[in-house]
Order: sequence, then structure tokens, then C-alpha cells
Amino acid sequence: MATKKKSGTKTFASKVAPATGKLGVMVVGLGAVATTMIAGVEAVRRGLAKPIGSLTQMGTIRLGKRTDGKAPLIKDFVPLADLNDIVFTGWDIFEDNVYEAAAHAEVLKPQILEKLKPYLETIKPMPAVFDRYYVKRLNGTHVKKGKNKRDLAEQVIADIRAFKKTVDRVVMIWAGSTEIFMEPAAVHESLAAFERGLEKSDIAIAPSQIYAYAALKEGVPFANGAPNLTVDLPVMIELAKKNSAPICGKDFKTGQTFMKTVLAPAFKARMLGVNGWFSTNILGNRDGEVLDEPQSFKTKEESKLGSLEYIFQPDIYPDLYKDIYHKIRINYYPPRGDEKEAWDNIDIFGWLGYPMQLKVNFLCRDSILAAPIALDLVLFLDLAKRTPDLKSLGIQEWLSFYLKSPQTAPGLYPEHDLFIQSMKLKNTLRHIMGQDLITHLGLEYYD
Ligand SMILES: NC(=O)c1ccc[n+]([C@@H]2O[C@H](COP(=O)([O-])OP(=O)(O)OC[C@H]3O[C@@H](n4cnc5c(N)ncnc54)[C@H](O)[C@@H]3O)[C@@H](O)[C@H]2O)c1
Repeated sequence: MATKKKSGTKTFASKVAPATGKLGVMVVGLGAVATTMIAGVEAVRRGLAKPIGSLTQMGTIRLGKRTDGKAPLIKDFVPLADLNDIVFTGWDIFEDNVYEAAAHAEVLKPQILEKLKPYLETIKPMPAVFDRYYVKRLNGTHVKKGKNKRDLAEQVIADIRAFKKTVDRVVMIWAGSTEIFMEPAAVHESLAAFERGLEKSDIAIAPSQIYAYAALKEGVPFANGAPNLTVDLPVMIELAKKNSAPICGKDFKTGQTFMKTVLAPAFKARMLGVNGWFSTNILGNRDGEVLDEPQSFKTKEESKLGSLEYIFQPDIYPDLYKDIYHKIRINYYPPRGDEKEAWDNIDIFGWLGYPMQLKVNFLCRDSILAAPIALDLVLFLDLAKRTPDLKSLGIQEWLSFYLKSPQTAPGLYPEHDLFIQSMKLKNTLRHIMGQDLITHLGLEYYD
């Protein structure tokens, strides 16, 4: 379907289907991140606050030459769903409505929550697919019962179908707790094997995989905000392609890893060596409590460790990066709640091997950083689903920008460098809208 968008004086032709009607957003896990996103969207819709941190809402995109002076807002350039057209629903293992869950999370101030209360109270979670084996620190009471995992998947499919009747398009996002560390198994190799595994309630199939399977079966795009093994599996890639349901990597890139993927490319660009990177965190929210359990921590640790190895390419630069000691710690410390504090000590070396140090102390707010990322992922996955060039690719590598563990085609190393990721994202938007890509070559200005 062709659509035309006007920005400034230029009209862009594109094959992207317009974002007509309502976008239904199904959120798995109505905890701190999810409620901060939902309350935030409502606050923005009512003009009570600005969507700071959201590229889809505040970002611009340069088109053409620097001298052309064209930089429309991204949301005016590509046909994204309008915030007023978003309808939220979700699942949780506790019965609290979104107001109660947001109050419990203590991220947003009571003054703003009270204003939004009548709306937030209307969003009540559906019973979840949950098993304590996969998140040991939680004990859910609001859970689905079924004779096997296939039965549970069918119940989620029924939830999706019921919701689809009330909206025009649907996207699903996992903002649930981090599950235990798991590795791909035979059951994940193909759709047939996975469906047999569902029937037998195979232990290698975690609840997050049941939601993802249900979404992708229904042609619904799926984002994973946590580090658990969910769509990074052959069965999910197969389903995503088959049913034109876009997927992307996992684990919101918010605080410490966000900073790492800014600083590491800077050291590498200047050929400065690194021999140690010690990262520690204190946080006291429910996520911190779940991550205090060693098997959930291992899932997070693996996701956080990956970025440096890929950015530094020690095989290519052994003199600079072959012996990095990279250590990550997360400490559950209740007094801090959602206001996480992260410290990084980075041991670097320069000319003739002389050592130096850099210390980073990021006093951040976990869910304040994650909420706009969750929103952008939802909006961009919905865009991908409406884009002929993207919808059947399965993995949307251009969304790596938002994730600690970007997903790529098998055999391809992921790009972790935030600035490469940002360029990739913006060039993808230019590409799908039929605009010239920007290479930053710039020789034309000196003709
Ligand atoms: N906040 C950040 O900066 C950030 C960054 C990266 C990743 N994450 C990840 O995002 C996820 C959400 O973080 P949070 O701070 O909102 O945590 P949270 O503990 O506040 O919320 C998670 C919610 O998921 C629910 N839940 C758990 N298992 C479920 C299931 N099977 N089905 C439905 N609901 C389920 C819990 O009851 C809880 O309400 C975590 O996995 C976290 O590691 C957060």
C-alpha cells in the first residue's frame, strides 16, 4: 500500500502501509518498566509530560545534504502509530492493576500517578503463564492452569485473538522478570520439534518462549526486554519469517551497558588499550531481587558481558585488547529501589603503554531509562510489520540500538557500537522511505 508523507516542502513516497486505527500493545509482566511506560504514554497523551528519551517521539532525521536543511521529526517522516492510538493490555502473575503495580514499583511520584489513576486502574492483567522453576524468587498466584505447555500456549493464543477483535494491529513485548540461564536445546531446532516439546511440557521451554511462540504463531511482532532465551532460537526465527512477525534482540540497553557501548568505541577509535573493566551495580527493585538469585544473574551477566568482546575485536587488535579482565557485579540493595547506581572502573593504557584510569558513576533510574526504549521498540516493530522490505525478514537488526544482546543472522557478529547502531537505524528508515542513505562522506561540499 502506498502512502505519502509531507515534511517541510518535500513529499516522500513509500510502500509502507499507513498506521490506521488502533495499535494494541500486549505487555508480558506489568512491573516497574511496563507500568512506567504505560503511565508515561498516558501522561504524554494528556500533555502532562514530555516523552524524553524516546527517539520515535523526539528524534529527528536528516535528509539529503547538510546544506538542504531538512531534518523532520522521525514520527513525521515514517508512518508510526500515534500515541493516542495505542491500547495497552498485558499479563502478570499478580492481580494488581497497572495503578497498583506502578504504586508498588515506586518509580513515578504519587502526584502524577494520582492524576492517571482512573485510566491506569482500568488495565488489569490477564492470568500469566508462569513456573517458579524459571524465576525462583517469585511466587505467582495469578497464573493459568493447563494440562501441558501446548494447552498454555493455546490459552495465550486465545487471549491474543480476543484482543485482536478490539484493535487493528497487535505487538507483544516481554517486560517480565529475568528467567534462569538456559541454552538452546534440540526442542528449539524446528517448529515441529518445539510443538512436540509443548505437548510433552519439555523443561527446555520456558514461559517466555510460550508467549513468543503464541505471538509469532499469530503473526504478532515480539520484543524481549529481558536477557532470557526467548526469540533467539531457530524455531522462533522460522516462525517469525513464516508469519511475517518481526523480532529483534533482547535486554533493554539502558544504563551501564549503554555507557559501555559509548565509551568502548571511543577508546577503540583512538587506539587506546584496555586491560580491565570492572562494573558493579546496586539496585533495590523487584528486578534486583530476582537478579540476586544466581541462575537469573547468570542470564543477565552473559548478556552484559558480550558487548566489549565484540566492540574491541581482540583478534584484530591483540596489542590493545587481548587481555581485558571484564567483571560485572549486581548487588541487591533494597534502600535504593529503582534508583540504581552503577560504577565502572576502566583501566586503559596509551602511548608507549602508560596506564590511565577512567571512573564512571552513573546514578540512574532504571525504569525511567527503559520505558522509552520499550515504547520505541513497540512502535518500530509495528512499523516493520507494515513495511514490505522488512516484515518477512524475521530479525530486525536495525533495532540493535536498543538492546544489550542484538540479534543477527546466523554467523554474523552483532554490532554493539551505539553510533553504528544509530546510523543503521536511521539509514533503515531512510531506505524504507525511498530516501538517499547518508554515508557521511561529504566530498560533494568541496567540489
Ligand atoms: N529497567 C531496566 O533498566 C532494564 C534494563 C534491561 C532489562 N530489564 C529487564 O526488564 C524486565 C522487567 O524489569 P522490571 O524492573 O520491570 O522488573 P519487575 O520485577 O518490576 O517486573 C517484572 C514483572 O514481570 C512479572 N512476571 C514475571 N514472570 C512473569 C510471567 N511469566 N508472565 C507474566 N508476568 C511475569 C512480575 O510479576 C513483575 O510484575 C526484567 O527482566 C529486567 O531484567 C530492565
